[in-house]
Amino acid sequence: MMDFFPTPKQLSRIKLAVFVLALLPFARMAWLTVSGQLVEPLQFITRGSGDWTLYFLCLTLAVTPLRRLLQWPWLIRLRRMLGLYAFFYAFLHFLTFLWFDHFFDVEAMWKDVLKRPFITVGFSAFVLLLPLAITSSNGMIKRLGGKRWQWLHRLVYIIAPLGILHFWWMKAAKHDFSQPILFGLIVAALLGVRLWWAYSKRAAAPAAAKGCSGCCH
Ligand code: HEM
Repeated sequence: MMDFFPTPKQLSRIKLAVFVLALLPFARMAWLTVSGQLVEPLQFITRGSGDWTLYFLCLTLAVTPLRRLLQWPWLIRLRRMLGLYAFFYAFLHFLTFLWFDHFFDVEAMWKDVLKRPFITVGFSAFVLLLPLAITSSNGMIKRLGGKRWQWLHRLVYIIAPLGILHFWWMKAAKHDFSQPILFGLIVAALLGVRLWWAYSKRAAAPAAAKGCSGCCH
């Protein structure tokens, strides 16, 4: 694999570049809205922010496989930012839905969440994202303890499929499955590789234990 180990200074620059790049879709949405170039700005932002939530969820899930494949351990230093951007776009998505669909009428929103299954699923994914965003700081990792924090953050393995289901259900009304299938396959691959690692590790453990008892005694 390509050897690349950035110095702390280079890593700070990479982080800054990722931070700015990740903000560009938001900047574009904001610019098109304030410059009056959109016929239905809130609908445009609801859709755009939904798409970007999904992209950032996929990018966050891709960090560990890429880190192992490329043998670039430093990639892990970008994961928190990518995850927080997923939350940022999900929050924007939710906010525009509350605004565009319900004019901030929370009671009407609740009825809609309970009535339309695709909204129920999207809302569940968003609610599950909340504890991950809240516990993303170093202080919270310390307070929770590494193991508990890790377990909590495995919620992302539920959130991403819920996001796909939400997208699928929404597009089902239009009989347009191409994008949900594509992202479904991406998420399945990103989760499948983890299952494969877990399985290989389990399969290797008894063999390693046997090997150990053989050589020690
Ligand atoms: C992790 C959470 C979520 C993800 C990944 C997600 C993703 C998406 C995606 C990809 C779309 C399709 C956008 C397009 O047409 O290109 C969408 C649409 C939509 N989402 Fe979500 N969503 C999430 C949470 C929510 C929540 C919390 C709500 C509201 C409570 C919501 C309401 C909607 C609505 C109303 C649409 C349809 C927009 C339209 O047709 O104009 N979503 N979402």
